[in-house]
Amino acid sequence: MYNKEDKILIIGAGGQIGIELTQELSLLYGSSNVIAADLKPIPALSNNAFETLDVLDKNALLNIVKKHDIAHVYLLAALLSATGEQKPDLAWKLNMEGLFNVLDLAKEKHIKRVYWPSSIAVFGPTTPRVNTPQFTVMEPTTVYGISKQAGERWCEWYFNKHGVDVRSLRYPGLIGWKSAPGGGTTDYAVHIFHEALKHKKYECFLSENTALPMMHMEDAIRATIEIMHAPSENIKIRGSYNLAGISFTPAQIAAEIKNHIPEFTISYKPDFRQQIADSWPQSILEDRAKKDWNWSAKYNISSLTEDMLKNLAQ
Ligand code: NAD
Ligand code: SER
Repeated sequence: MYNKEDKILIIGAGGQIGIELTQELSLLYGSSNVIAADLKPIPALSNNAFETLDVLDKNALLNIVKKHDIAHVYLLAALLSATGEQKPDLAWKLNMEGLFNVLDLAKEKHIKRVYWPSSIAVFGPTTPRVNTPQFTVMEPTTVYGISKQAGERWCEWYFNKHGVDVRSLRYPGLIGWKSAPGGGTTDYAVHIFHEALKHKKYECFLSENTALPMMHMEDAIRATIEIMHAPSENIKIRGSYNLAGISFTPAQIAAEIKNHIPEFTISYKPDFRQQIADSWPQSILEDRAKKDWNWSAKYNISSLTEDMLKNLAQ
């Protein structure tokens, strides 16, 4: 259940998830109730009010929240895994201080609810790599993963100590056709579709048999909205929920693409992102999301491939 009158602020709305999430929430709440914020204007979201915002500027953030009487904040501004390794100081600052700025707004009762995404990057090489459970060893080795793990602990702390209604998902790598990915290790799984359609070949920066959990963006957006609309008492985990998605390797997704584009070829040239991928799970269990708020994904590898190729071709 949700209140259609609630005003929503999406921070980092111009990114891969933000564009699609803003569009989907606008269908539910009306575009006048969904405010997009980012470092620079977002042409794809011309129907929504836009605020230029650096989430590290706490006063500017508070002013926007007051100006629009915001109830729910979706915090998407972050540096992802690959960029984070190249800019560790900025990754830590943005990923942590941005989160504190938003959690503090909720603690001070300026907003009612917070959404903040975590990632499969919270896991590390000592985590069981197949069917990774919700609760397990977590020793992330990337700055991004460390920031997400710390963020999860802080979310739970703000809930326990201050009653902050914060909700979170550990997204797998996200694959969508409406927006471009922004500096992650799983980005190959989006690039491959663009290159397959344009050039009928792709050079992959991960090795052939690197299995990772992935998810169609439509499923990820639906999961985000479902967890935000679930009754508070159903949200038993205030760190972050595992989402399984679909686990596949570059070779497997290439084989799916070949079913539609027989001339398609793939080659492999692993770079620094291989080491990051090798530290993450190959597959994930999502039993708690299913049990607590009834989560169920729609896409499998075949329907994801078909949907990506069909929509990108148009
Ligand atoms: P993205 O890089 O595509 O978008 C991030 C957006 O944040 C960009 O538009 C950027 O301009 C904006 N931004 C950067 N610094 C900012 C600042 N200081 N103030 C305001 N805005 C700023 O990222 P995304 O893929 O959309 O990811 C969004 C969130 O989801 C992140 O927290 C990310 O860790 C998480 N996540 C994403 C994936 C994925 O596959 N895309 C997977 C797991 C988790
Ligand atoms: N898709 C993200 C990344 O590769 C996972 O959080 O960084």
